[in-house]
Amino acid sequence: MNDAIRPQPGIMDIALYEGGKAQIAGMTNIVKLSSNENPFGPSDRSKEAFQRSVHQLHRYPATDQAGLRQAIADVHGLDRDRVICGVGSDEIITFLCQAYAGPKDEVVFTEHGFLMYRINALAVGATPVEVAERDRTTDVDAILKACNRRTRLVFIANPNNPTGTMISAAEVARLADGLPAQAILVLDGAYAEYVQGFDGGLSLIEARGNVVMTRTFSKIYGLGGLRIGWGYGPAQIIGVLNRIRGPFNLSNTQLDAAEAAVRDQDHVNRCRSENARMRQWLAEALAELGIPSDVSMGNFILARFSGSDEAEACDAFLQAQGLIVRRVGSYKLPHCLRITVGDESSCRRVAHAIAQFKGVR
Ligand SMILES: Cc1ncc(COP(=O)(O)O)c(C=O)c1O
Repeated sequence: MNDAIRPQPGIMDIALYEGGKAQIAGMTNIVKLSSNENPFGPSDRSKEAFQRSVHQLHRYPATDQAGLRQAIADVHGLDRDRVICGVGSDEIITFLCQAYAGPKDEVVFTEHGFLMYRINALAVGATPVEVAERDRTTDVDAILKACNRRTRLVFIANPNNPTGTMISAAEVARLADGLPAQAILVLDGAYAEYVQGFDGGLSLIEARGNVVMTRTFSKIYGLGGLRIGWGYGPAQIIGVLNRIRGPFNLSNTQLDAAEAAVRDQDHVNRCRSENARMRQWLAEALAELGIPSDVSMGNFILARFSGSDEAEACDAFLQAQGLIVRRVGSYKLPHCLRITVGDESSCRRVAHAIAQFKGVR
């Protein structure tokens, strides 16, 4: 071991991100409800575009990503020049931290916020600042109190993962307006498409110079395996992010599949309404078993158990039946299990198994 070779400060403080478990040793016919994936997968048009892209494998992708940015702009009514695309919305979060935070700066996020905010803050040597939530919901006053002249970025996911809760546009506006001048508010809209009629905070971006939004193709678009996300914000900030974006960060395959996906809003609408139907069904089925959850605006439910022992025991029981859900101890919710809303048969299967665990069936 060469002690003279050391990583940058902060990096050794990063706890490795663990994705949702996908397998159980010795078991087939598994139902995976641990990663908030869309059970219906991507639209057929997106799959066709993916297949067609095989003929372009020898070609470098367009550095300006114009086709995908135009499609996103058309569908959402945006300025194409202020859209930036990345390897998942994770990469947009990375760009923001790289561009705007460093040693002695603070990056603020909430108690049960997405783990990548902390990881990216530490990766650039910044100080992560975690702010308490109120009843598993973003607390704007607590965030504003935590901000100071070192704050450079404030991340909130709306709806939040893994809580599923959301704050109103008026609350988000109050947050944006109350931040110190040098801070950017990042609205993580990974689950925005699941909320009927929600623009993810776009109107706030248009009215202010300090708000950026991130979005993903991994959730409702069913393209988590392909890794595509995008961001939108003031021209000045997007211009900065483009300076550090690798010119070929997205392949032709990613760009073409995502472009076809965003242009197929019928698929998105079908997935949203089916998710809402099964989410309500699952929440009610669990409530009848004495397992409460907050009203979720995403494609998952955060089931609350009597304590971490019961949550752990239920998780083990479900795994023994081939059902994988997500333990969320790393999100400071050890008494909870996050259950992705699957298709109808998966939801029925998981509710039935939890009833058996509770000794009801
Ligand atoms: C709140 C939130 N933000 C961002 C992401 C990252 O998504 P991706 O990098 O797949 O676009 C996720 C994924 O689980 C998430 O839950």
